[in-house]
Amino acid sequence: MHATPSNPSLPKAAKYRDLNQQLAALFSGERNGLANAANMCALLYQGLPGLNWAGFYFVRGGDLVLGPFQGKVACVRIALGSGVCGTAAARRETIVVPDVNEFPGHIACDAASRSEIVVPLIKRGRLLGVLDIDSPDLARFDAEDRSGLNAAVALLLDSSDLGHLSD
Ligand code: SME
Repeated sequence: MHATPSNPSLPKAAKYRDLNQQLAALFSGERNGLANAANMCALLYQGLPGLNWAGFYFVRGGDLVLGPFQGKVACVRIALGSGVCGTAAARRETIVVPDVNEFPGHIACDAASRSEIVVPLIKRGRLLGVLDIDSPDLARFDAEDRSGLNAAVALLLDSSDLGHLSD
């Protein structure tokens, strides 16, 4: 199976509608959380321009532990409250960082990263992990990315059993 490349001339909101339709199709008939998370980060990495990393961390024993991703090898374990990922998880809110060098405690897995967005995975009040997306471009992510990626995470949470990936 291969993802249909998103049309680069589409406005950003339309591109997210397109990507989220593709995600819904990928998830239909399959509830395995690991499989759906793996396909989701591949689709986002291929479908969104200007990324150098897209992937998941899942909550394990008070830390975030690396899950499926696309990009260079990354930090395996991040404490809740540390870095952008740990801060988004602890606050339970999406964080957009226009310039990672201005974020105190940012964890540089890839020195090329310049901006980042992290969306927490929260199902029925339980924090399961985060979706982390990095870019080598400054200020790559805006309100439309926040809204499109929040919708993508909501689709994953509705369509998949992720509970066994975290504790
Ligand atoms: N930059 C993240 C760490 C994860 S990597 O970017 C893949 C952070 O500060 O939490």
